[in-house]
Amino acid sequence: MQPLPGFRDFYPEDLAFRQSLLEICRGTARRYGFQEYDGPPLEPLDLYKKKSGEELLGQLYQFIDKGERSVALRPEMTPTLARMVAAKHRDYKKPLKWFSVPQVFRYERQQKGRLREHYQFNADIIGEPSLGAEVELVALLIDTLRNCGLTSADVVVRMSDRQFWLDFLRTKNVPEDQWYAVFQAIDKSEREPEEKSREALGALADDVFQVLREGAPSERLTEVMAGLRARGLADFARVDFRIVRGLAYYTGIVFEVFDRQGEFRAIAGGGRYDDLLEKFGNEALPALGFGMGDVVIGELLKARGKSLPNIASLELYVIIAEETYRSAAGAVVQQFRDAGFSVDYSLAETKFKKQMEAATYRGVSQVIIVDEKILQDVISVKNLITREQIDLSLADALQYQNALRKKQ
Ligand code: HAM
Repeated sequence: MQPLPGFRDFYPEDLAFRQSLLEICRGTARRYGFQEYDGPPLEPLDLYKKKSGEELLGQLYQFIDKGERSVALRPEMTPTLARMVAAKHRDYKKPLKWFSVPQVFRYERQQKGRLREHYQFNADIIGEPSLGAEVELVALLIDTLRNCGLTSADVVVRMSDRQFWLDFLRTKNVPEDQWYAVFQAIDKSEREPEEKSREALGALADDVFQVLREGAPSERLTEVMAGLRARGLADFARVDFRIVRGLAYYTGIVFEVFDRQGEFRAIAGGGRYDDLLEKFGNEALPALGFGMGDVVIGELLKARGKSLPNIASLELYVIIAEETYRSAAGAVVQQFRDAGFSVDYSLAETKFKKQMEAATYRGVSQVIIVDEKILQDVISVKNLITREQIDLSLADALQYQNALRKKQ
């Protein structure tokens, strides 16, 4: 039996990648002063009605539970965050800087970069109306990408101003129920022939295409770009009015990250959504955030031949030279594990050569050999890359490994 279409099995090497990626996200967010939160993966269906936008509603995994409630697997984290914040924000000093790495579920049409579940790094700032929050948030996104080994030659944050587009639609007297269709047409204009977009935009086509070609003044965008420039991050960002975002709740600066070669779907996306929290708690609270999935960035890193440091890798393998020393070797293994090293060894009598092969297979660069010298409390440490081997007392070997680890 196969997993359902769009769902993944994570074999250890796949999980190691996911963990490493999400650890980079977590580590970067913490360095920016963000705190981690979580919420339920199953929510009342009503949470997503009206809050997420038509496209996501059509992609919900929804059902009636045994208590006759209409429920849905979360397709995104933002409505959950809005609900949580609206309920308890008075308990916290503003601004809140919160992050999460939920698994989310969308019944999407299967295509490259789009699955039916993914893990999504979310970072949001709540309670800060000034554009300094945009600078901080986009800087976090850029630094996360940098910490994955990506450069400004690999990726770009395309930034736009949904507020500009909303004002544009109001000036043109476009009725509110048509706004979403216009945003959809702008969003698709990049991938579709101009004629098709013009048809969808109708009387607005000329004006919209002029903005797409020539841009438009936006002090907000100028200020955010200046903030990024001051941090030395401007190479990673550019203004692009084609970005409007599919979700309904955005109100201000919006952005999406793409690979420079335009090969992959959006790597991340987000923006300001100042009106959403009011719908949950009757109190307006400015907010902004982004989501970055694990799928597209994984494809991009693979395509560019970049790997992440494997946090799940084994550090040491203990080789038992002769079966007589198995229990002494067990004590050695235990001492290194107690000192915090990840250590493995062969569970049953195995030829020396086979043990060395197992160590290589597990990717360690060093083995510890336990032989007759253990009777004098001495072990050998062999570097599998340089082939150098040294004898050390157990205490010295522990110190030696600690020193090596610090150097890495
Ligand atoms: P989104 O643009 O729908 O935004 O998703 C954000 C990112 O999640 C995408 O750029 C992509 O990396 C990933 N993603 C989305 N759908 C899929 C899929 N089917 N398969 C794989 N990856 C996918 C949001 O979800 C907003 N809630 C983000 C946000 C947070 N805005 C404010 N705060």
